[in-house]
Amino acid sequence: MTRSATELRTFWYMGAKTRLCDEFINGAVRDLVEPGATLLDACTGTAAVARWFAPDYRILANDVQRFSATVARAYLEGGPDWQRVLEYLDPEDDLGRVRDDNLRMLESLAPDALELESSLLVQIGDSECESDPEVFDRYRTLVTQAPIPDGSDPSVEKSRLHEPLASQILELLKNRRANPRGAPAVLCTTYWAHLYFSLRQAMQIDSLRRAIDEIPATDQFQQQKQNLYLAALIHAVSISTSGTSHFAQPRSIEKDTELVAVVRRRLLNIDEQFELSLDAIRTEWGSVARHPDNRVYRSDVHQLLEKGSPLDDEQVDLVYLDPPYTADNYSRFYHVLETLVCYDYPELEHRDGVLTRGRYPLQANRFRSDFCSGSRVEDAFRRLVKSCHERGARLLISYSTDTGLLTRRWLSQGHQQPAACLRELILEVYSNVEIREQNLMHSGQGDSNRSVRELLLLCED
Ligand SMILES: C[S@@+](CC[C@H](N)C(=O)[O-])C[C@H]1O[C@@H](n2cnc3c(N)ncnc32)[C@H](O)[C@@H]1O
Repeated sequence: MTRSATELRTFWYMGAKTRLCDEFINGAVRDLVEPGATLLDACTGTAAVARWFAPDYRILANDVQRFSATVARAYLEGGPDWQRVLEYLDPEDDLGRVRDDNLRMLESLAPDALELESSLLVQIGDSECESDPEVFDRYRTLVTQAPIPDGSDPSVEKSRLHEPLASQILELLKNRRANPRGAPAVLCTTYWAHLYFSLRQAMQIDSLRRAIDEIPATDQFQQQKQNLYLAALIHAVSISTSGTSHFAQPRSIEKDTELVAVVRRRLLNIDEQFELSLDAIRTEWGSVARHPDNRVYRSDVHQLLEKGSPLDDEQVDLVYLDPPYTADNYSRFYHVLETLVCYDYPELEHRDGVLTRGRYPLQANRFRSDFCSGSRVEDAFRRLVKSCHERGARLLISYSTDTGLLTRRWLSQGHQQPAACLRELILEVYSNVEIREQNLMHSGQGDSNRSVRELLLLCED
C-alpha cells in the first residue's frame, strides 16, 4: 500500500496513527487476519487505521465521540448509489442559499468589528518580518473586547465595537437554547469568536453548519449528505483553529510570535478549507473501493463489545484497540468539534464563578473514558480483553510502552517491564500474546522532539 500519512489525515488529533499504519500496524493486522476478514477499529479517532485497511477488509469502526464517528462514516459507509451521488454532488446547490442568508444576518450583528478585524489581520499577515507594535496592540484590544457568552463582562465601553451583538448576546443565547433552530445560527460566533477562530471564521462556520442542518428531508440522500458535509466542516475547523491543534486552551497572543502564528490561522477561509476537505473525501471514494457493508458506531467501546449490542449480529474477526494513552480526555481536548456536531448551545462550565478559559461545556456533559482514569484503566483493559475473547475475535492493541497511564503506573510501582505486565494481563484470557515495539517521535503538545516507544500486542488463541 502506498497511501501517505498526509492523505490519511482527516483532522488534527493526538494519538492519530497516521504514521504507523504503513508497516507497523499493517504487518500486525496481516499476520493476524487475511484480507476479506472483518476488522473492528474500536476507538477509531481520525479513522486513519480504518481507512488504511478499507481497500482490503470489511470495516466496522467505532468511537464514543460524535465528531469522530461522523468523519468515519463519511469515509467508510455507503454503497454504489451513494458513490454515484458523490460524483455529481453540487455543494453550492445544497448549501449556498441558507449559508449566505445566515452569514448576512451574522455580519449585521457586528459590522464594525468585522471590518476592523479584516483590516488588522491583513496588515499583520503582511508584516511578518517587521512587526508594527501599534497594529499588534490594536488587534489585541479588539480581541479583549469580544462579548462574553454569559455576560460576565458587561462593560459598555469594552463591547461597543461588537454592537449590536454585545447587547443582544444574552437574549440570543436564551432564545437559541429554547429553540436551537432559530435564525441566525450563532453558536460558534457567540462561544468562540476571537478565541479559537476569527470573528469572520466563526460566522462562516455557523453559516455552513446551519446550511447542513437545512438540507431538506425531501432529499433522498439527506442523511448521507449531512454527514458528509459535517465531516468536511470538522476538518476545516480542525485545521483553522488558532490553537496549536486542539481546543484544550485558546492560544495566548501576548508574544508577537504567537500573535503572528494565530493570525496566520485566522486568515484561513473556512469555505475554502471546507471545499478542499470535501474534494479529499470525494477523491478517496473515487479511487479506493469500500465494502458496502462497512458500519460505523458511536458507542462506549465496553458497551459495544459486551453482549446485547448491535455487534451481536456481526462476525468480528479482529478488534483493533487504540485507547487513549494518558489522563487527557478527548472530550475536553476536542470539545469544539463535539459541540459543533451536536450544535445544541450547551451550558458552559464555570470555575469559581468564572467561565473556563477553554469555554468547555459542563464537565458532567463530557464523556470521561475509563482509559483516562488512573484507578479504572487496568480494569478497563481487563474488561475489554475478556469481551473481545468472548466474541471469538483476535485482538490487536496499540499502547505506549513508557508513557501510557497504565504502563507508567506499573513503572512507578517498580515493574521494570510494563509491556510484559500488560501481556500477563491479556494472557489471563488469550493463550498467545506477541509484543512488538517501534520508536516514534512524539507529536503531542509542545514535546514534539521526544522519542516514545509504541507498543503493539497481538492476541490470539
Ligand atoms: C488514541 S485515540 C485513537 C486514534 C486513532 N487510532 C487514530 O489513528 O486516529 C483514542 C480514541 O478513543 C476514543 N475513546 C476513548 N474512550 C473511549 C471509549 N470508552 N469508547 C469508545 N471510544 C473511546 C477517543 O474518543 C479517541 O478518539
